[in-house]
Amino acid sequence: MAQNLSRKILAAHLAKPSKMEVGEEIYLKVDQTLTHDINAVMTYLAFEAIGLDCTKVETSVSYLDHNLLYLDHKTPDDHIYLQSAAKKLGVYVSRPGNGICHAVQVARFGVPGKLSMGGDSHTPHGGSIGMMCIGVGGMDVATAMTGLPMRLKMPKIIKVNLTGRLRPGCNAKDVILEMLRQNTVKGGLGKIYEYVGPGVSTLEVSDRVTITNMGAELGATTSIFPADDMVRKFMKAQGREDAFVEMYPEEGCSYDGEIDIDLSSLKPLIACPHQPDNVTTVEEVEKKKVQQVLIGGCTNGSYKDIAKAALVLQGRHVHEDVSCTCVVSSKQIYKQLLRDGYLEMLIDAGVRLLELACGPCCAIGQSPATDGVAVRTTNRNFKGRAGNPTALVYLVSPETAAACAVTGTFSTAEEILGTGVVMLDKIVEPEEYPIDDSMIIRPLSREEAAKEEIVRGPNIAPLPVPDAPEQTLECKVSLKTTDNITTDDITPASAEFSSMRSNIPLMSQYCYHRYDPDFASRAKELGKSVIIGGENYGQGSSREHAAINPMYLGVKAVIAKSMARIHKGNLVNHGIIPMIFENPKDYDQVDLMDELVIENLRDQIPQRIVEVENKTKKTRFRAKIELSDNEVEVILCGGQLRYLKKQLKYV
Ligand code: F3S
Repeated sequence: MAQNLSRKILAAHLAKPSKMEVGEEIYLKVDQTLTHDINAVMTYLAFEAIGLDCTKVETSVSYLDHNLLYLDHKTPDDHIYLQSAAKKLGVYVSRPGNGICHAVQVARFGVPGKLSMGGDSHTPHGGSIGMMCIGVGGMDVATAMTGLPMRLKMPKIIKVNLTGRLRPGCNAKDVILEMLRQNTVKGGLGKIYEYVGPGVSTLEVSDRVTITNMGAELGATTSIFPADDMVRKFMKAQGREDAFVEMYPEEGCSYDGEIDIDLSSLKPLIACPHQPDNVTTVEEVEKKKVQQVLIGGCTNGSYKDIAKAALVLQGRHVHEDVSCTCVVSSKQIYKQLLRDGYLEMLIDAGVRLLELACGPCCAIGQSPATDGVAVRTTNRNFKGRAGNPTALVYLVSPETAAACAVTGTFSTAEEILGTGVVMLDKIVEPEEYPIDDSMIIRPLSREEAAKEEIVRGPNIAPLPVPDAPEQTLECKVSLKTTDNITTDDITPASAEFSSMRSNIPLMSQYCYHRYDPDFASRAKELGKSVIIGGENYGQGSSREHAAINPMYLGVKAVIAKSMARIHKGNLVNHGIIPMIFENPKDYDQVDLMDELVIENLRDQIPQRIVEVENKTKKTRFRAKIELSDNEVEVILCGGQLRYLKKQLKYV
């Protein structure tokens, strides 16, 4: 039977035979792993605890790219630990200043047809070149590095048929914002979006990365484009044409669903606060005074993106009430923009060029002012994501962001350039990028690695390991949340909090800090507790601290109306039982500090349904445990680390 591209790649990586039916658990051999500094300390501590001396996948890369702001000893401690651990464990390091992980990974390590697992939700960026790239939690990356197959629930494969061509002033960002407008932040759960159709060949790899990267906001497992002539051109420009493999869906293949998007019909779009799917046109959005503009990041920090923004700003000046900054996504792109004069245009316009790092995208610097309106080309606008919960963050393309920077309100590039907007269409990616891998440290030989010592500063605290669940769980509700809780709500982003991520006892004190500042002390005092969540609990960033911190504070289960994929996996890995209300209306019957009892819990978990008694309200309800056999085993063991050690027979 003819196979679509996604099934073809998954089938080539099956570690156990499978019919690959939707919803079935499949096991995959992983080729590449990716980690970054603000999540990775936990990954490498876990990998060390497993006891293997070296990564077992073809290529593992550790990026020092998110937090380059050394406020005190904590972040440099983390970076030194990560660099020394990489040397010991056979992992590449991309040093601070080389660029943002996804941009560097696709350019310097990406290979069509390979399968990559990354400890970052925007790992699907690499789907732009026909790779299957899946964002997972850090413990999953540690697992992949052992060479054991990775479990994945077989997703639905959805065909996204692109026709037409983007008009000048529109950007691939408008394609993914349109996908979000149509499908919402939950629409992609359990799905892979496979982009096909005549519109695909009009998009360069730099356009495709915006779409696959931000497919994470749809909740999708991943997104993928074919490896066609555009990919060949990109890899040739990277001096890596020899690694190119043509990858297409087979003629006559079928899909589990279909979406049509006519690129020519799109207008510049804008996602309004506080969800990326709250999308309207820039024309129609209520005009507001813009305080801050950020151009760049991993989603829209390519050569083409920054060059287009520079052309909108050329000969103009950033509005006097606007603070405008720019993050180019990698050193090679920065150098090319410098050579071609685009950075000079930005500087002349009053744009402040920032370090080659994620920085403001994850609230590491450049927080908006109180009630400030921020326009960003990044991928998330959750409340607090920019470091200030009062800020209103709007997501747009670089062309639109540059126009807003000029006028100080929401505007399109066409409003600034008039008919001259057509010149934006002339910008294409370079035929050849400046190639210099001197900022990538290659793995040592095993003999050399054996002599290396891993350096642990005082910020590197041991990884906490949960206990296996007890037969009777009797505890109170330490928190009841609303819908769409993000991992930013659970573990706030900022330079200060990010630097605590290697020190769980310290960081857990700030768990839910901006949502409910009393949660951490309340949970700690209770000793054991349960969290009640609404719809789409745990959406957003893959950060597993959103599971580790509650686990450290004694949270034993989360009972929610629905749950985001990566967060659910992180809860399992860290021994917190994810449960879903069988009847969502039961959510209304449970309140903060209610006392809940689950008898025979260990026996009920494999049945996938538990009876919960609410002693306070004198009611009962049922909760589903939507886990695979393997995940049930992990939960009963007390999390992935204990499970892995058992698998690898170290205990
Ligand atoms: Fe970094 Fe923001 Fe992308 S944190 S990896 S630039 S989503």
